Amino acid sequence: MTVLVTGGAGYIGGHMVLALRDAGEAVVVVDDLSTGFRWAVPPDVTFYEGDFGDQSLMQQIIAAHKIDAIAHFAAKIVVPESVADPLGYYRNNTSSALNLLEMAVRHHVRHMIFSSTAAVYGEPDVEAVSELETTNPMSPYGRSKLMVEWMLEDTAKAHDLRYVALRYFNVAGADPRGRHGQSALNATHLIKRAVQTALGRYAYMEVFGTDFPTPDGTGVRDYIQITDLIAAHMQALAYLRRGGTSLVCNCGYGHGASVLDVIGAVKKVSGTDFEVRLSPRRAGDPARLIARADLARDRLNWVPRHDNLEEIVQQALDWERRLHNRQP
Ligand code: UFG
Repeated sequence: MTVLVTGGAGYIGGHMVLALRDAGEAVVVVDDLSTGFRWAVPPDVTFYEGDFGDQSLMQQIIAAHKIDAIAHFAAKIVVPESVADPLGYYRNNTSSALNLLEMAVRHHVRHMIFSSTAAVYGEPDVEAVSELETTNPMSPYGRSKLMVEWMLEDTAKAHDLRYVALRYFNVAGADPRGRHGQSALNATHLIKRAVQTALGRYAYMEVFGTDFPTPDGTGVRDYIQITDLIAAHMQALAYLRRGGTSLVCNCGYGHGASVLDVIGAVKKVSGTDFEVRLSPRRAGDPARLIARADLARDRLNWVPRHDNLEEIVQQALDWERRLHNRQP
């Protein structure tokens, strides 16, 4: 049995590849290297440089490797970019996923793990969002992912395929053993940006919005450590293989940190003070996005182990230093 990981040269997919290898699983990666890095895929993992929506390539890979499960990570993930280029997002995230799904059905791949997003909820008006909350994505990015959830739901009803869609909240941190981390160039994510500022890559950082209805006025997010997130995927794979029914699950800890909390943690952990500028809100940012994550714990037996903001920040900082040595 072999697991095919799309986007396995990227941040989240790359951690999945490591976890699968650590568990002794056979792994094949397909990645077009548009944002991922060839060096991120261990040399003993079979790697195909290409597009997961390319049906002849996928047919070739599935036939050659006895694929029993696909973990599908490859996607465009920048919300403002999706607003500027909606069709690019629908093509890559939705239409190519349809191609992939078609190949999975045609070649009897029975298990699929899909990386979905909290962006499917939009701006929820509850303190913590459960999977039962109405979906109301506010960006083409969120819509492009929700449409794949729907395709999976319908496909699973019609064919011999079961899936787990995991809705990620804010993923951060790095492999505790230092093998992989967030390496994207020009990343805009808060923790990455803050550790880069602490290391002097930027002269200052901005807080986008100080007038949200939150305790300190800045945006609150549920930051989930990458290894914990990947553990949910590994549990999902085991769940599907033992016959579990299709499932949509949040991946978060169930509590949040504000932008100022995060900046405070980065200053503390790095021992660096840096300039922080207060700026207006970014378009489309919800005030708070916190998961209710009981379902992952109950159905997937998911047990998070790194629910600690300072630990997450330390990992991000350590990785950023390593990355700098690799790509100065
Ligand atoms: N922020 C700052 N300054 C920065 C960067 C971010 O103040 O330099 C703030 C944002 O305004 C927000 C919080 O930090 O309040 C988190 O922002 P991120 O950009 O790190 O993450 P988002 O919550 O905007 O986005 C994340 C994922 C998306 C996903 C979205 C779901 O990165 O892929 O959650 O809402 F779509």
